[in-house]
Amino acid sequence: MNKYDVHYEPRRGRRLTGPELLCQLKARVQPDTLTRDMQPFSSQAWRDQLPSHSLSAHLGALNSCAVVTSAGSLHRAALGKEIDSHDAVLRFNAAPTAGYENDVGSKTTLRLINSQVMATKDHKFLSSSLYSTGLLVAWDPAPYSADLREQYVQYRLQHPAQPFYILHPRFEWQLWEQIQDNMAESIQRNPPSSGMLGTVLMMSLCDTVHVYEYLPSKRKTKLCHYYQRFHDDACTLGAYHPLLYEKNLVKRMNQGSDRDIYTLGRVTLPGFRSLNC
Ligand code: C5P
Repeated sequence: MNKYDVHYEPRRGRRLTGPELLCQLKARVQPDTLTRDMQPFSSQAWRDQLPSHSLSAHLGALNSCAVVTSAGSLHRAALGKEIDSHDAVLRFNAAPTAGYENDVGSKTTLRLINSQVMATKDHKFLSSSLYSTGLLVAWDPAPYSADLREQYVQYRLQHPAQPFYILHPRFEWQLWEQIQDNMAESIQRNPPSSGMLGTVLMMSLCDTVHVYEYLPSKRKTKLCHYYQRFHDDACTLGAYHPLLYEKNLVKRMNQGSDRDIYTLGRVTLPGFRSLNC
């Protein structure tokens, strides 16, 4: 399947070390957000709803950051205090904290959301209080019949004080190429998962990034999300997203110990600023 019409010429070289992979990622991937002065938005009627500055200008330099995947293995993880001790915490899509504070913490600095959250009625995107904490970052090609621009503008009108960014679409394919370039096999020709995009986004904003239960700990389970009773191995291993390959790359870049992965489900990655390439 190649529904996004990805044209890829293999440019695989030798297998890179962790530090080499980190420097290559920093050099090749730009996790930018859209601003109102960018083409083609600068000539659109809704341009003023877009932020005037990038996400990095808004947040400034952050020291330590947590990326909290929504994995089922966070159930009974008791990582809440550790997660909340970070300067900034990134969560994904519909992941709640209320009722799960002991496992996943309560601080939400940013939430990365996909088109399903914005377009599917079940998520109640415009009215649910889940989305009004912290700042929002959206990504993802819109479903065939959804008008995400309308959702975006409506949300901005209802929550004018809440910063709401959109990831530059070239970022997802830059990251996809970075994964494919470093894999011996052909990976799915679909965008990387929110988890991978969010991890690299935070590497561009923070000095150190801790990612929780992306590489599963001893709590590994078929449970898809910590907040839902739905079981499917594909949530952890991937079907649509090249999740297994993303995780392989993150494992190779991890600067923490295997014990941290096993006991805490924790990966440690340096921010781009901390790298001497
Ligand atoms: O399912 P959702 O995309 O909302 O989850 C957020 C991210 O958490 C995923 O994109 C994926 O990277 C990660 N995840 C995971 N294992 C799971 C569930 C989610 O690695 N079982």
